[in-house]
Amino acid sequence: MNPLPEQDPHLWDAIAGEMQRQRSGLEMIASENYSSPAVRAACASVLTDKYAEGYPGKRYYGGCEFADRAEDLARDRAKQLFDAKHVNVQPHSGAQANTAVYLSVLEPGDVVLGLDLAHGGHLTHGMHLNISGMLYRFQAYGVRPDTHRIDLDQVAALAREHRPKLIVAGASAYPREIPHAEFAQIARQCGAKLMVDMAHYAGLVAAGVHDDPVPVADYVTTTTHKTLRGPRGGMILCGAETARDIDRAVFPGIQGGPLMHVVAAKAVCFGEALRPEFRQYGRQVIENAQALAEALAAGGLRLASGGTDNHLVLADVTSLGVSGKVAEAALDRCRITVNKNMIPFDRRKPLDPSGIRIGTPALTTRGMRTAELRAVADWILEVLRAPDDERLAERIRGQVADLCEQFPVPQGDLL
Ligand SMILES: Cc1ncc(COP(=O)(O)O)c(C=O)c1O
Repeated sequence: MNPLPEQDPHLWDAIAGEMQRQRSGLEMIASENYSSPAVRAACASVLTDKYAEGYPGKRYYGGCEFADRAEDLARDRAKQLFDAKHVNVQPHSGAQANTAVYLSVLEPGDVVLGLDLAHGGHLTHGMHLNISGMLYRFQAYGVRPDTHRIDLDQVAALAREHRPKLIVAGASAYPREIPHAEFAQIARQCGAKLMVDMAHYAGLVAAGVHDDPVPVADYVTTTTHKTLRGPRGGMILCGAETARDIDRAVFPGIQGGPLMHVVAAKAVCFGEALRPEFRQYGRQVIENAQALAEALAAGGLRLASGGTDNHLVLADVTSLGVSGKVAEAALDRCRITVNKNMIPFDRRKPLDPSGIRIGTPALTTRGMRTAELRAVADWILEVLRAPDDERLAERIRGQVADLCEQFPVPQGDLL
């Protein structure tokens, strides 16, 4: 029985409110998803109580036999899922995974190449307020102005000029496949290591519907909670020769005891991703994003790179006369959740940029397919054309509610 409503009604209000929000709205934030009841059961398990500093078989605490079993399951399944030689499942988050690789490979002051934040990169790829930008000398590459695809000529030129020790590939707001092999070739030519941060598209790689960085990258980092649909957390994949250094960088380098309940939930997530249904899920995520992109473009929205081959669309909403901030708020009122986002070469500011980022992983988990995504695209267009129209918002809220009822969130009976 759930003790929270009685024991802590104020906190329970917040959790129940979030549960209701998730059920009754369209979650289109590209980095979010609905984890399964089994993943959440592991997250809520007694493993949260256990200290297990170290690694299976080599812990600094007694009583770790069941923690070892859970972590071994997570590691073995991740290795199988991504065909990796070594896996560290302990990073508390994607940011921790990236920081651990930096600690393992770099000295302070070393040069690194990473995608410009304003072109879709992540803050852990060298933003000046993040530890990555404080400790290391990141040089930013960008996307081409004509195609909005990563400018590989610029990456190669920067690599020749700056001789980086590490090249970071991967993005938070990039609607196209990352060209892993091309990055690997540039890294080899300048003697750099390659780290691919596949946080956004790890689920698509696991499903076999996205180019796989594992065969060509020295290090692959990821989150487990986006397209991979697991608990909130991070992971590092690497070769056998760097396994020891990576493990040391995670613990004791940047973390203490692992979150064993989350490690267990990662094992559940990898088990789910190994099932054949997950391949179908990955395919549908992309088909849905492409249907959404086509419908939005047909309605007059300018899309970064003209479309998508992954799980997200980056749309310039100024083509309909609104800013990204206005668009996010107007859609929010209609229970369609997206986030405002810079578009490449944006003339506006990050807090009120020209674009919105829209993703399909969560709606696809609810079972929605291309017909539903086309309908949602039409609602988005209607709202953006009349962001202050309260009667329109009322009607769209009703349509959203009907769709949500038809496609319930797979939350089970848990909290
Ligand atoms: C590409 C990329 N890397 C790393 C992260 C960081 O993950 P976390 O928020 O778990 O630290 C994100 C999160 O959005 C991301 O998009």
